[in-house]
Amino acid sequence: MKVTLQIQRYNPETDEQPHFEEYPIEVEPTDRVLDALMQVKNFVDGTLAFRKSCAHGVCGSDAMVINGTERLACKTLVRDVAREEGAVIRIEPLRHLSLLRDLMVEQDEFFARWRRVKPFLINEEPAPERERVQSPQERALFDDPTKCILCASCYSACPILDGENPAFIGPAAIAQAARFIFDSRDRGFDERLPVLDHPDGVWACQNHFQCTRVCPRGIKVTKNINLAKRSITKAREQGER
Ligand code: SF4
Ligand code: FES
Repeated sequence: MKVTLQIQRYNPETDEQPHFEEYPIEVEPTDRVLDALMQVKNFVDGTLAFRKSCAHGVCGSDAMVINGTERLACKTLVRDVAREEGAVIRIEPLRHLSLLRDLMVEQDEFFARWRRVKPFLINEEPAPERERVQSPQERALFDDPTKCILCASCYSACPILDGENPAFIGPAAIAQAARFIFDSRDRGFDERLPVLDHPDGVWACQNHFQCTRVCPRGIKVTKNINLAKRSITKAREQGER
């Protein structure tokens, strides 16, 4: 089928503003949008810049805005976003992150906010002779957020970052905090509290659910944020904090 890729282009050395350019190409409906982008890069314009690595939905590097919605280009089939012959597929970089070039954004700010929740197991107690035992039920409590591939789609889609609170730490960071809050082996709740129990932390979330809608891993991001809110409220009620 014929489609036109309408791609945002931006070269910081020559362009004052980003603009769109159109690339009519021939693709199979079952091709992925990543294949279509590669076709443009390999055969039409080798200067087109975008990130990709695994090409199988594992690394999270090719998240972009396709027809207005955050998606992984490698997990999006052309037929999912182009219903008829001659359809236009509009491709833009992720939002809320500085634009580097074409579809590439600066990821540092996303990762800096993610690191603020200390996304690692904290436990200073002496290590047992064997492993820190955890039951399957305890493991299941935090299974959902372990699936995160740090693609930043949720950060891009979050309406809170549009203007209401650009300092919001972001959905992925809180989901990652929840992954450790609900890990029976972790003792880092108090260390994470100043970042989470803060107007830029969990309380900035207004339950718009956009993060949950766009997450390519199907993580219930908003639910994890609300579980984190509840654990903070419970700790306060119990007078522990
Ligand atoms: S929570 Fe989902 S959308 Fe957000 S960074 Fe992780 S995988 Fe991507
Ligand atoms: S290229 Fe790795 S997730 Fe798409």
